[in-house]
Amino acid sequence: MLPAHVTLLEVGPRDGLQNESQPVPAAVKIELVQRLQAAGLREIEVTSYVSPKWVPQMADAAQVMAGIKRERGVRYSVLTPNLKGFEAAVAGAVANSAILPDEIVVFGAASEAFSQRNINCGVEESIERFRPVVEAAHARGIKVRCAVSVALGCPYQGEVTPDEVERVVRLMKGIGVDHCGIADTIGVGTPKRVQAALERALKHFPIEQVSGHFHDTYGQALANIYACLELGIHTFDASVAGLGGCPYAKGATGNVGTEDVLFMLNGLGIATGVDMERLIDAAEFISGVLGRKPVSRTGNALLAKRANARVIA
Ligand code: HMG
Ligand code: MG
Repeated sequence: MLPAHVTLLEVGPRDGLQNESQPVPAAVKIELVQRLQAAGLREIEVTSYVSPKWVPQMADAAQVMAGIKRERGVRYSVLTPNLKGFEAAVAGAVANSAILPDEIVVFGAASEAFSQRNINCGVEESIERFRPVVEAAHARGIKVRCAVSVALGCPYQGEVTPDEVERVVRLMKGIGVDHCGIADTIGVGTPKRVQAALERALKHFPIEQVSGHFHDTYGQALANIYACLELGIHTFDASVAGLGGCPYAKGATGNVGTEDVLFMLNGLGIATGVDMERLIDAAEFISGVLGRKPVSRTGNALLAKRANARVIA
């Protein structure tokens, strides 16, 4: 039996926008987050406290966190690869009443090569960098999620095995991470292989604390989410309008579109609490600012329907 309820974790403001070459003003990011929460999303990954030299688009993290009106029931998360990032996230909340994140994300990789390119250190060293971040977060009552990148394939190494995934999952568990996200960074996973990778996470984390993060480069993301639903997994990352990519995985497209996942879940009768019309408002807003159509199929179909309705009216 499939789960009755799914939590959609919206990553568009972070994973979606981090790869945009045109600067996106902080005010737009703030408006996007507010539209997403208005659509009923209760988990929003807002931004990253990373080096602005590495990811310039996220340089305004503090400004964005200071501009959002916190909505009751919404959990806000941010990426913090090291203590410097974590301290910046906390300092913003103390100094200018920015939102204190409910959850931080440390991001490791199942391959050494990707770890080096993405965070400039090897896998074991990355875990040692995350250890004090996890401790500092827990000391403040902040939860920690990890992302295990390139779990289904690596742009530098090629194939990645479930054993390699499990090695990182185990290391993450060892430093006290609360939640484990398995990420198909370059979208090459297919359903059975995805199940094999996610099953390794389920060996170490309870099912409520395991999620899937699927980039849709090869059009497999919805099939992969369905395969996870069959395992009972009920938390998935998704990106409004299908925005995004990873700056260190060239050619990888965005996460699966939130609208596409919602359309499938609605059809399956699985509750999410997310309102499609308001989600489409958010997709229309950000697509308008970026000056291009959404990548998500459902986003496009419903926006075309809206445009037709306007012409007829
Ligand atoms: P490093 O160069 O090894 O770090 O970078 P460092 O400690 O030697 O510091 C170098 C410079 O960065 C110094 O500045 C530091 O102050 C600064 P300088 O003295 O040269 O002016 N610095 C920072 N600045 C702001 N915030 C910080 C910070 N840390 C150091 N937190 C580091 C290591 C991890 C910082 C760097 O490699 C980095 O920022 N990488 C960015 C990685 C990234 O954001 N990738 C995209 C997100 S992950 C992703 O998309 C995958 C995911 O979606 C899942 C999936 O799909 O796979 C989650
Ligand atoms: Mg990603």
